[in-house]
Amino acid sequence: MFSRDTLHLWILAGVLVLAAVGFMTVRNLTVPPSFGQFGHYRGAALQTAADKERKLTTRGDCTACHQTLKHEMGKSHERVHCIECHGQGKAHMTACAVAKAAAKPGENLICDKSGLMPTNIRDICLHCHQQMVGRNPKHPQIIFEEHMKDNDPKDPKSPMVCMQCHVPHDPSQEPSDDAGDKDDAAKPADAATPTAAPAAATPENGGDQ
Ligand code: HEC
Ligand code: HEC
Ligand code: HEC
Ligand code: HEC
Repeated sequence: MFSRDTLHLWILAGVLVLAAVGFMTVRNLTVPPSFGQFGHYRGAALQTAADKERKLTTRGDCTACHQTLKHEMGKSHERVHCIECHGQGKAHMTACAVAKAAAKPGENLICDKSGLMPTNIRDICLHCHQQMVGRNPKHPQIIFEEHMKDNDPKDPKSPMVCMQCHVPHDPSQEPSDDAGDKDDAAKPADAATPTAAPAAATPENGGDQ
């Protein structure tokens, strides 16, 4: 059919066509459909990332139940997230949500609150307030050793020492005299203890739910 002189060219052309078809087939099977939509990557990756479960809890997650704390947090700490001092609290949130769903209106909720209370508040406070070169000079800072000397607390080595003189939720306030006394278990349910549904607006929750 072909002359001997051109046969090798036709064979070469055939091999190239086969290679091209093979390449397109493999490419179509392996490259994700949204590749190149916005640039040299998979466009749908944006949605995949956005759909991932959120890992960090926000203040809103916590104040949804701890409504009074929305107002109790002082001006200076109102933007400090709960997780800075209390940790993620995911197990707590799940357990309390279950308890909330099962509870009758107005009933005090009981749920897992393990691991929420900081045991070394000094290091947490100093993480943000120890004086450092490069820290915005407007941000309130102390030099721990000097601050202890100046103010002379009862037990300067205690990991809770800052609590003797500062209320963590509102550091502009001084703690009341009985703060830190651990034998106050008999006091009535804390005002901030969430209930299944507040029966009426109280001055604390202001009704702004
Ligand atoms: C700067 C650190 C810090 C931040 C930020 C913080 N807490 Fe606290 N919180 C503490 C410490 C320390 C205690 C223990 C207080 C005590 O023993 O007197 C406490 C106590 C509590 C208590 C139990 C006593 C009470 O006052 O009802 C709850 C509930 C609570 N925090 C929830 C929250 C929530 C919700 C947020 C976020 C809106 C938050 N906290 C932000 C440090 C913090
Ligand atoms: C679904 C409601 C709900 C959510 C959301 C919630 N809590 Fe609580 N929380 C409660 C209840 C109810 C209690 C009291 C539980 C008890 O006494 O058994 C409590 C108690 C606490 C205490 C007191 C622990 C103690 O030993 O006295 C702290 C601290 C606390 N929560 C922090 C948080 C933080 C931080 C978040 C956000 C990550 C959060 N909570 C989210 C319902 C909730
Ligand atoms: C995540 C960072 C962070 C942590 C943790 C933190 N603080 Fe603060 N603190 C702040 C910020 C931000 C301000 C407000 C600075 C401003 O107003 O410009 C502030 C303000 C203050 C002030 C000045 C209060 C005022 O009203 O003038 C004091 C005192 C203070 N914090 C003490 C503490 C103590 C005690 C702890 C530990 C229980 C603590 N802070 C933990 C970030 C933090
Ligand atoms: C014995 C009481 C006492 C103890 C304990 C104490 N403070 Fe203070 N703190 C004070 C007083 C009083 C002031 C206000 C006067 C001043 O600036 O010294 C203050 C002020 C501050 C300020 C504001 C400084 C500024 O420049 O505005 C910060 C931040 C602070 N303290 C953090 C801490 C931290 C963190 C701890 C724990 C490591 C702590 N304090 C322990 C008494 C104390």
